[in-house]
Amino acid sequence: MTVQLKQAEPVAFSRILGIGAERGENVVTNDDIAGPIDSSDEWIRQRTGIVTRRRAGADRDVIDLAEAASLKALAAAGLTPDQIDTVIVSTVTYFAQTPSAAAILADRIGANPAASFDISAACAGYCYAIGQADALVRSGTARHVLVVGAEKLSDFIDPTDRSISFLLGDGAGAAVVGPSDTPGIGPTVWGSDGSKATTIRQTHAWSQLREDPSLGWPTLRQDGPTVFKWASFQVGKFAQEAMDAAGVGPQDIDVFVPHQANMRIIDQMVKQLKLPEDVVVGRDIADTGNTSAASVPLAIERLLAEGQAKSGDVALQIGFGAGLVYAAQVVVLP
Ligand SMILES: CC(C)(COP(=O)(O)OP(=O)(O)OC[C@H]1O[C@@H](n2cnc3c(N)ncnc32)[C@H](O)[C@@H]1OP(=O)(O)O)[C@@H](O)C(=O)NCCC(=O)NCCS
Repeated sequence: MTVQLKQAEPVAFSRILGIGAERGENVVTNDDIAGPIDSSDEWIRQRTGIVTRRRAGADRDVIDLAEAASLKALAAAGLTPDQIDTVIVSTVTYFAQTPSAAAILADRIGANPAASFDISAACAGYCYAIGQADALVRSGTARHVLVVGAEKLSDFIDPTDRSISFLLGDGAGAAVVGPSDTPGIGPTVWGSDGSKATTIRQTHAWSQLREDPSLGWPTLRQDGPTVFKWASFQVGKFAQEAMDAAGVGPQDIDVFVPHQANMRIIDQMVKQLKLPEDVVVGRDIADTGNTSAASVPLAIERLLAEGQAKSGDVALQIGFGAGLVYAAQVVVLP
């Protein structure tokens, strides 16, 4: 007997309904961290654009940060937690292998029994997850997806490391994605290059620490100039591809929000993409530092909160980082 299966009923369009942010509560200045790396406030400002980074105290973890951001995103979207049926958390700093941070977060915010899972896509994680949420909503598999990029990178820093630790901050950014009457999320352009996996890395794996406890706690490292060149001169083309895929050009973009890795990388991308001067550019890195998966939504939330961007603006967003991975899309701001 031939059985005809039903498949999920697709919906035409999706959009971001609300965004929320939570930054680490402690403001850490360049002077606070310059000593052990023989650096200075002047060097860090000139080479990275970072003035302060925000870090969370010992009593707060990735899920605490994610919870605060999520509740704000729900309020901004005008939804109650029980209306969330899927939770995606992107993080590389949650300590447990399993269960997922997303399942615990869903329960904490009152979204139990939402489908929940974590993804690992480093600094591209938020844009990866927005791509997944868009697909889940439009396919009819999910109705309201909570996307969270959450990191407590201060758990993986070495105060004497000159390569990356001084860039890093803690925070969480959340977005609710749901059905829409008009197109709100352009096609996601994404990819990876694992042949460059060691350019941004953990000093050693947990298994090595188990075998040799003298190795100490693993922390993050990067080949700064290699990453800098890749991010400044290779990644811009993926943002261009996202515009092409969405059928828009630089003149249609109101807001550009790249991953907050280094102010000089941001400036270089703006130049390469030939964005008009009146395009508002996310520069949250100056105060917040590099928060990996949280950096794009944190930068967007700041622009909205400060009135530099507004609901309905067309935003080009791109994340890139360890993997190497990247993901970009054009979205309409909530
Ligand atoms: C890390 C980074 C800020 C270093 O800046 P840079 O301009 O590339 O610096 P370089 O490594 O070429 O070093 C230039 C000089 O500064 C010195 N230096 C390097 N790191 C330093 C630090 N933290 N403080 C002070 N001096 C430093 C070097 O010793 C070198 O000195 P020299 O000219 O006397 O030899 C930069 O490479 C960067 O931002 N990379 C990408 C970061 C990133 O995006 N990471 C996350 C990806 S998601």
